[in-house]
Amino acid sequence: MNQRRFERAALGAPAVPPGRVTVAANALRRWLAGGHRRSAPPPVQILESLFAAFDTPVLGAIVALDLPDLLDKPRSVGELADRTGSDPDRLERVLRYAAGRGFVSFTRSGLVKANGVTTALRSEAEAPWRAWVQFMSSPWLTATWPRFGASLATGQPAAFELAHETDYFTYLTANPDAGAIFDEAMAAGAMLQAIGLARTLDWDEVQSVCDVGGGTGATLEVLLRYHPHLEVTLFDLPSVTARARFAETAGPPARTITSGSFFDEVPAGCDRYLLLAIVHDWDDDRATALLRVVAAALPESGRIVVVENVACENPRDDFASASDLLMLALASGRERTAKQYEALFYAAGLKIDRASTLPTGATAVELVRAD
Ligand SMILES: C[S@@+](CC[C@H](N)C(=O)[O-])C[C@H]1O[C@@H](n2cnc3c(N)ncnc32)[C@H](O)[C@@H]1O
Repeated sequence: MNQRRFERAALGAPAVPPGRVTVAANALRRWLAGGHRRSAPPPVQILESLFAAFDTPVLGAIVALDLPDLLDKPRSVGELADRTGSDPDRLERVLRYAAGRGFVSFTRSGLVKANGVTTALRSEAEAPWRAWVQFMSSPWLTATWPRFGASLATGQPAAFELAHETDYFTYLTANPDAGAIFDEAMAAGAMLQAIGLARTLDWDEVQSVCDVGGGTGATLEVLLRYHPHLEVTLFDLPSVTARARFAETAGPPARTITSGSFFDEVPAGCDRYLLLAIVHDWDDDRATALLRVVAAALPESGRIVVVENVACENPRDDFASASDLLMLALASGRERTAKQYEALFYAAGLKIDRASTLPTGATAVELVRAD
């Protein structure tokens, strides 16, 4: 598949937007959504917010019933009920809600048909978004929500830990099915960030890249599509690298898979160290500790590339504030403002060389050693 077709398939959009266009588009969407919300009286706003809770179980049911794959052409509710072993009346009610929320469409003659969202949830979709649905609707994750209030009262441990009596990453290691779903969900987002990194940063002078906490290697796989000269190292916990998407090769250029904990040591001497959605998983002490470990492995001319959704100083309805609550619920992590990141990097002996907005709206910060 050529690069343009790959990007269209992975993004579900006709072109990769420059980061500033995404930022402007998100501001416009927030303004429109805020207007829509505020146009209703408060009791309606409350009910609409509460009823949005049905989005997750409905998306979960759509994926669990494999409807995105079955909707390769418009089909009647009766046929879908037959093929999925569902009650036709109940399935129709779920699908009508789903159509109202934009997850599927109906033809004028009343057949159910796939739209862009349904297509992105197919098993053969370029980016595995169905895994995000499986992750967010899984019983092991939803068991977290009843403990959310209690975790606010105590501060520690996180709601997930209250529900499962173990921390998040230990749970994923002990439960490989859950771990595999989480890895796939992360891969979907990683592919988008990787397209942005591949197109936005300068890779010509870079020889070696280590993806720290790189999951099963989706970021490196995409990066290699654009810059095949790169020598890559995937680093994550052993239970995760065991599911790596690519095999090791001696090269040149070499593809290496290494496992361990980034609180102990990471492979030394690479030109670039990627930390995508890693720092936000941890509180300030742990985040500083892991940044120090990576800084110790960094050659003088090397850079650490941190990719995160930077939180706004003022409260607003955006991806960073929702993701902040996921970090709060699952672990000790948090989304941070630009100032908070700067302080964290400084504490780890690092300084910002350059910051770029990626097409997703996330920020890629290139860090060098401060000394
Ligand atoms: C939020 S995911 C991000 C994955 C990937 N960078 C991405 O953007 O999709 C966090 C990753 O950190 C890894 N991780 C957690 N604790 C770790 C540790 N102590 N050492 C190495 N990797 C760890 C997890 O296994 C997971 O792959």
